[in-house]
Amino acid sequence: DSPTSFAEVQGAGGETHQSTNDPALTLTSAQGIPVADGQNSLKAGPRGPTLLEDFQLREKIFHFDHERIPERVVHARGYGAHGVFELTDSLADICRADVLGTVGQQTEVFVRFSTVAGSKGSPDLARDVRGFAVKFYTKEGNWDLVGNNIPVFFIQDAIKFPDLVHSVKEEPDRAFPQAQSAHDNFWDFTSLSPEAWHMVMWQMSDRTIPRSFRTMEGFGVHTFRLLDAEGNSTFVKFHWKPRQGLQSVLWNEAVKVNGADPDFHRRDLWEAIESGDFPVWDLGVQLFREEDAAKLPFDHLDATKLIPEELVPVRIIGAMTLNRNVDNFFANTEQVAFCTANVPPGVDFSDDPLLHGRNFSYLDTQLKRLGGPNFTHIPVNAPRCPVMHFQQDGHMAMTNPKGRANYEPNSWGPEGGPRENPARGTTSFAAPLDGPKQRIRSETFADHYSQARQFYLSQQPIEQKHIGDALTFELSKVVRVDIRARAVSHLLNIDADLAATVANGLGMALPEAAVAARPTIDLPTSD
Ligand code: HEM
Repeated sequence: DSPTSFAEVQGAGGETHQSTNDPALTLTSAQGIPVADGQNSLKAGPRGPTLLEDFQLREKIFHFDHERIPERVVHARGYGAHGVFELTDSLADICRADVLGTVGQQTEVFVRFSTVAGSKGSPDLARDVRGFAVKFYTKEGNWDLVGNNIPVFFIQDAIKFPDLVHSVKEEPDRAFPQAQSAHDNFWDFTSLSPEAWHMVMWQMSDRTIPRSFRTMEGFGVHTFRLLDAEGNSTFVKFHWKPRQGLQSVLWNEAVKVNGADPDFHRRDLWEAIESGDFPVWDLGVQLFREEDAAKLPFDHLDATKLIPEELVPVRIIGAMTLNRNVDNFFANTEQVAFCTANVPPGVDFSDDPLLHGRNFSYLDTQLKRLGGPNFTHIPVNAPRCPVMHFQQDGHMAMTNPKGRANYEPNSWGPEGGPRENPARGTTSFAAPLDGPKQRIRSETFADHYSQARQFYLSQQPIEQKHIGDALTFELSKVVRVDIRARAVSHLLNIDADLAATVANGLGMALPEAAVAARPTIDLPTSD
């Protein structure tokens, strides 16, 4: 019953021992065994040898030895925060998802922003696409909107993703470059992949050197479906629009920031939230029906295309505020597991072949990254609604099903566990399917340059100059001149002046234009 004491004494070797008699503050092993001395291993005599018997030493080092988990195979470097989403405009007439139904309803979220190519320790201001992943903890389970800060993607089919990522990561023999500068392999791949060139134009723009995570847009990229209670479908594209405005830095600022403070973006987000300056994004949707989609001059299932806002305006339906920093980076930001397949009843997939590959990939990679099938038990991944199923066991099982029955159907009555709910349960859009099984790329995916040109022409002159400068700089680092020429040949299909500027900057003759798989079309460029 003695009062709580704290003492600090020097040990025989000058090491500091800080001790207490308060049970609540007592240092313990992972098994809860109180520790008397955490600074000295158990030895035979003052000068050793150290005894194998020392379970305290072994446990401490054993745990330390296993602190690292695999970093994400892409988007390894990221920073997360908690927040809340509030619906301001109901979609109940076209969507049965509870989260999109009731105006004023608030839903907790966790968001992770990231770079794509760099490793976990890479600098924040790399020229790179940024991930913008949002987990909504809805009453009907977790909904993950796993997007980027750019509305289109490099490739049209998920089967190319390993090649894309291998080409953008370090070259396998020498393990450099880590970034895209000086990257023969990246430009080799993209110059052999015409579908990449719309995204390449965005990537060479100021969008890939954002001033802050707070000043980035976000996009769900793919076309998804919203389903009403009768199963009717509306296509949807998701947009996040920052109330802080869209801002970038200049390339030479980015280079300096990377050297002076490689944590610039994570520090910026953490400090803003910590000081109560909570960043807010509006959630917008572009909604269109099957018959509208048929009239678009490109395929809405092609993730290298966007739907111009002139054709389908963005309707704002809610706002997301990030208002709480993580209290443990590893537990939350590192262990969060997003997956495009996580959608509540009323949100469904289109037939975008990139999306279908993603729906497999995230779950698969997380099985390894998070050490087994039970990562939904980790608090940041755990739904905030009841979870009732018959899945059990496996590594790190925290919430095995309770009761007698662990299978269905069963005849244990009310004690027999959860039951199917046809009225509330998730359903898929009953799309009629018909066609030969084949490995093929749709001819409707073949126009790779019209939207690339539309993006370039919609930029202000200074933004166009930055794109030209970025292309010239990046390609000047490519050693193989044939790869440079192949890259510039794509620019000729996008904008002749841009191609000439870059060729001139590289000191090379203009090559022949790359063959356009399909004639391009003129699209509006009003903003
Ligand atoms: C991770 C976005 C395409 C596989 C991520 C993350 C984002 C993202 C934001 C980071 C999630 C986080 O913060 O934890 C996108 C977008 C894509 C795209 C917008 C295209 C529209 C793909 C494709 C594949 C893929 C086609 C594979 C076929 C992965 C994997 C991870 C990842 C394996 C690591 C996930 C983890 O370890 O938890 N992606 N991605 N992505 N992405 Fe994608």
